[in-house]
Amino acid sequence: MQKTLSIYDTTIGKKAIAAATGLILYGFVIVHMAGNLQLFLGPEKYNAYAAMLKATPALVWGARGVLSVSVLLHIATTLSLVGHSAGARPVGYRQKTLAATNYAAMTMRYGGPALALFILFHLAHFTFPGVAMGNYRHEHVDIYSNVVHGFSVPWVTLIYVAAQTCLGFHLYHGAWSLFQTLGISHPRYNPMLRLIPKAIGVGVAAGNIAMPLAVLAGVIR
Ligand code: HEM
Repeated sequence: MQKTLSIYDTTIGKKAIAAATGLILYGFVIVHMAGNLQLFLGPEKYNAYAAMLKATPALVWGARGVLSVSVLLHIATTLSLVGHSAGARPVGYRQKTLAATNYAAMTMRYGGPALALFILFHLAHFTFPGVAMGNYRHEHVDIYSNVVHGFSVPWVTLIYVAAQTCLGFHLYHGAWSLFQTLGISHPRYNPMLRLIPKAIGVGVAAGNIAMPLAVLAGVIR
């Protein structure tokens, strides 16, 4: 007897799940950056913002649940789509061209796992268990001081800058491939359409890189 296909068994279903979870993560990354940029407003504003977020545990745990499921589904579906496209051509191309699609696929294939590693590092650093990477104690209330102490260590800042560069490329190519999935594409308007994912990728990377660099430069202290 033939098994009924679920949405997860079809390529289009996987693409839809990858796109929907990608959009949720996109939203989180932008809102998280906007909130974190309050570091530039000083410790009172930043710590009040962090406290406000934690004041409603149901909201915090709800968001954590949605984010965790989204990350896992995003990784599972994109890995499966990559495996599927590799399986569709078991004999590799004789000549590998460095076409734009190849370069985009490469940044997603290596940048994606790098981002997953960064998220684990970032959680260990700032959330749980709060590993102090420098000469200070992690505080569960004074979040501003955790961030300033954390980013005062040059090798930590370097990891953040490298990870945000990967994130910028990932957001750019991710949004562009979402446009393709949704059929938002036209040879005449593509150069203009590409500006939207580019602006988001560069904007998020720049905003996130500005914070560790500002700490290292003594602008945020
Ligand atoms: C320079 C940029 C960033 C800064 C300054 C920053 C800062 C922080 C801080 C301070 C926390 C802990 C908040 C608390 O204890 O209340 C946190 C949590 C978190 N960050 Fe970031 N973050 C940055 C970039 C990112 C990026 C790029 C991602 C994802 C790709 C990310 C994902 C998360 C997640 C998932 C949490 C856990 C939220 C929770 O469940 O409490 N962060 N971040």
